Amino acid sequence: MATVKTRLTIKRLHPLFVAEVTGIDLTRPIPREEFRTIWDAFNEHQIIVFRNQAFDDDSQIAFSHNFGELETMVAHPGNDWNPGHISVMTNLGKDGKMLPLDHPAMIHRDRNEAWHSDSSFKPVAALASLLSARIVPPVGGNTDFASARAAYEALPAERKAELEGRTAIHRITHPDMDEDKGYDEEAKKRHTVTQPLLRTNPVNGRKALYVGAHAQEIVGMPLKEGRSMLDELTAFCTQPQFVYSHHWRDGDAVIWDNRCTLHRATSFDKTKYKRKLHRTTIAGKAPDSAFERMPEPQRSCAAPLSRKIWR
Ligand code: OGA
Ligand code: MN
Repeated sequence: MATVKTRLTIKRLHPLFVAEVTGIDLTRPIPREEFRTIWDAFNEHQIIVFRNQAFDDDSQIAFSHNFGELETMVAHPGNDWNPGHISVMTNLGKDGKMLPLDHPAMIHRDRNEAWHSDSSFKPVAALASLLSARIVPPVGGNTDFASARAAYEALPAERKAELEGRTAIHRITHPDMDEDKGYDEEAKKRHTVTQPLLRTNPVNGRKALYVGAHAQEIVGMPLKEGRSMLDELTAFCTQPQFVYSHHWRDGDAVIWDNRCTLHRATSFDKTKYKRKLHRTTIAGKAPDSAFERMPEPQRSCAAPLSRKIWR
């Protein structure tokens, strides 16, 4: 049998972060030495874009397992009520037809339009998320990504020193959102966690701001002051020079490092175009625990952290 030689190439898509990797079919088992290249690129570039990947859910899950255990989600509007490892970002109902704009699943998904890091409200936040494009709109519906690492590195030294050692409270719910008022109290409690305001990638020691929509208070600071500092830091991270906007093409797959990037969905004409992307989420380790070694491929799943996990 002839051996197929793959040639991985890495091309930067933004001056500060994001690389496109070509020359690999992710739907097949990935040899460890090739995964090493991807793992290193992921730690270095924070976001990796792959094109023309014919993922179905099984092959997406199998590839994601190279990065570690996956988060498991229970049935909710974000996964079309199918519990498991796949979350669906779509404006379509189960019947494939466009949902009305006031449908609960649509309202819920609109919240992805706020800058956030996936699962930052969980005791062990997500390491990475992988979205694969199944149906894309011809215009709009980009996903925007911000480098919270490049933003941190651009801060003046005094500001960096002020932030050092601080922690923030992240919540699944938002105090200003009416729809959150009736949220299950027990789930709310479980999804209120303290996270470091700065996170360090243990592979390369590079630090990043850890902020976004779920970060709502700074521990040891008056509520209002902490909130405005968090808003200011999120605004700082998401300035145009730190942002890459991904325009989806059919077959695109993008994996991002939730420890050092923020992302948001952007709007499109949801009454005219269809959009469907499937997400797998790779579970993290305890905050900033040693994670120097490349992960071993996983077969098992992380235990569900909650009965109600929305992102
Ligand atoms: C996500 C997410 C944004 C989008 O999948 O976690 O926030 O553009 N998606 O659909
Ligand atoms: Mn998200």
